[in-house]
Amino acid sequence: MKAFVLLLGVFVACEASMTWKDCVPATTAHPYVTFTSVSVSPSPVVLPGNMTIGVQGTVYHHFGTDVRMVVKMDKLLLGQWTKVPCSQNVGSCNYDNPCEFLSAFKTSGTCPPQLTSHGLPCTCPFNPSSINLPPSVFEVAQINAAWQWLATGRFRVQAEMIHGHDIVGCFHVEMDIKRSGGGGFLFG
Ligand SMILES: *[C@@H]1O[C@H](CO)[C@@H](O)[C@H](O)[C@H]1NC(C)=O
Repeated sequence: MKAFVLLLGVFVACEASMTWKDCVPATTAHPYVTFTSVSVSPSPVVLPGNMTIGVQGTVYHHFGTDVRMVVKMDKLLLGQWTKVPCSQNVGSCNYDNPCEFLSAFKTSGTCPPQLTSHGLPCTCPFNPSSINLPPSVFEVAQINAAWQWLATGRFRVQAEMIHGHDIVGCFHVEMDIKRSGGGGFLFG
């Protein structure tokens, strides 16, 4: 089993590219948010570590506590996409009030400077505006002990923003993550 995992690791390491798409369904007449350009480097992203993220898009519609989020996360395991369950708010989780998470920034008054310096808010509500975050460095200093399963591998994540029954924003990304400091796959 471990030998297979290791082999797969070699395979996955060779296709280390990040792909993304905006996945708002064509049936959504009025999306709240769309993305036109997203970049993430390095590939694979190394955690803990520094990563560079750039985002361009548009917020078309005011939103706040009227939206919820559904996140679907899968990991490639032996060539099969396997659902990563929700654990301590990471994985395939439903967030009934995503604003609640962001309110931590409000309480501590520490919106990441990479965002504020480009005029981007980090707490609800969000107002119509263009999103223009040039490639900026974000540091993940450590991984919560409860997220140790977030090991090296290829992941795909789809985040849907939902208002009523409509998906009003949707982002899909597929990327490789590498855990730093450990022996890669058998980390743990
Ligand atoms: C991120 O980069 C800074 C500056 O190079 C460095 O001091 C820091 O240790 C890096 N963080 C991690 C988690 O590697």
